Amino acid sequence: MLTHVVRPEEILNSPAVSAGLLRVESRIRRLSTSSRLPLINSAAGRITGAGGKRLRPALTLATALALDGSLSNRVVTAAACVELIHAGSLVHDDLMDKAAERRGVRTLNAELGEGRALVVGDFILARAGLAALSSASKPVAETLASVVVELAEGQFQEAAELFDPERTPEDALRSITGKTASLFRASCLVAHRNGSSMAVYGERFGILFQILDDLLDLASTADRLGKPVGNDLRQGVYTFPLLLALRHDCADLRPFLGRRLSEDEITLLLARLRRSSMVDDTLEYCRGLAAGALSSLPAIADPQIAAALYGLPGAYIDWAESLLVR
Ligand code: FPP
Ligand code: MG
Repeated sequence: MLTHVVRPEEILNSPAVSAGLLRVESRIRRLSTSSRLPLINSAAGRITGAGGKRLRPALTLATALALDGSLSNRVVTAAACVELIHAGSLVHDDLMDKAAERRGVRTLNAELGEGRALVVGDFILARAGLAALSSASKPVAETLASVVVELAEGQFQEAAELFDPERTPEDALRSITGKTASLFRASCLVAHRNGSSMAVYGERFGILFQILDDLLDLASTADRLGKPVGNDLRQGVYTFPLLLALRHDCADLRPFLGRRLSEDEITLLLARLRRSSMVDDTLEYCRGLAAGALSSLPAIADPQIAAALYGLPGAYIDWAESLLVR
């Protein structure tokens, strides 16, 4: 029942995290509209204000509250920088996907053309780096600089393996560890000098988050998701759930790999995958990741924050499950 499932990002939003997110929001707004060029400000401000879930900065705030019990201005800046890096990377991702819309808002590439979208993405990323250095700390800036390297490597690997019939589930895991999980890990790392005690949690949750996103693209519906399904197949991105199914009970679907598919073939392939063990196998893998994430959590004194961090991975799985069709 869709109505009974808590949206996973709400789990993290305890009163203290919600109050921190308001501060993060105004910092995001200020940083993304700080250019001397009004056109950059309107483009960057529009895209960073376009209603993301703010899951990564909420994780930074929850980590800081778990390890320190309070939210300093430096932590608020670090959380804003994490979200700006996410937003900047999505501008680049939309450019690579030639996407016209994200979160119900026209993408910058659709609105301004590819060249200007590219440099607005660069502006957002660079602005985050500068703010981290000047208003958070050098270690935070270093963590964020190295996460940009990992995002680029993970994304590059995915792009290099498009339509590759030899891609394995392990290749897909390597790519999502770079393009997605690294930023969740960094969201924990930048929160506190002992943030590394939460890094494994962040990384495992990040892998789970991306695998569920990939599963929904294969086993949900446009009605439930609010966006078309089958996009990864259309673009030649062979994701972890698909590759797992090919290794288990769908080996006969291999002839669909290595080439562009017609819409009829995509419909056929999705129907077949939904009848296979793909959904159950992927959910089981995600439950293993969730258990691994929880087992790596340090002792947390604040009961609300502890409940939020313990609840998040399972809540994400429940939410995804409520959107799946089988
Ligand atoms: C969205 O995933 C994309 C990412 C999580 C990573 C994007 C990274 C880059 C473009 C590399 C360059 C980044 C920087 C910081 C220079 P998705 O495409 O699976 O999901 P979607 O359906 O939201 O597009
Ligand atoms: Mg994409």
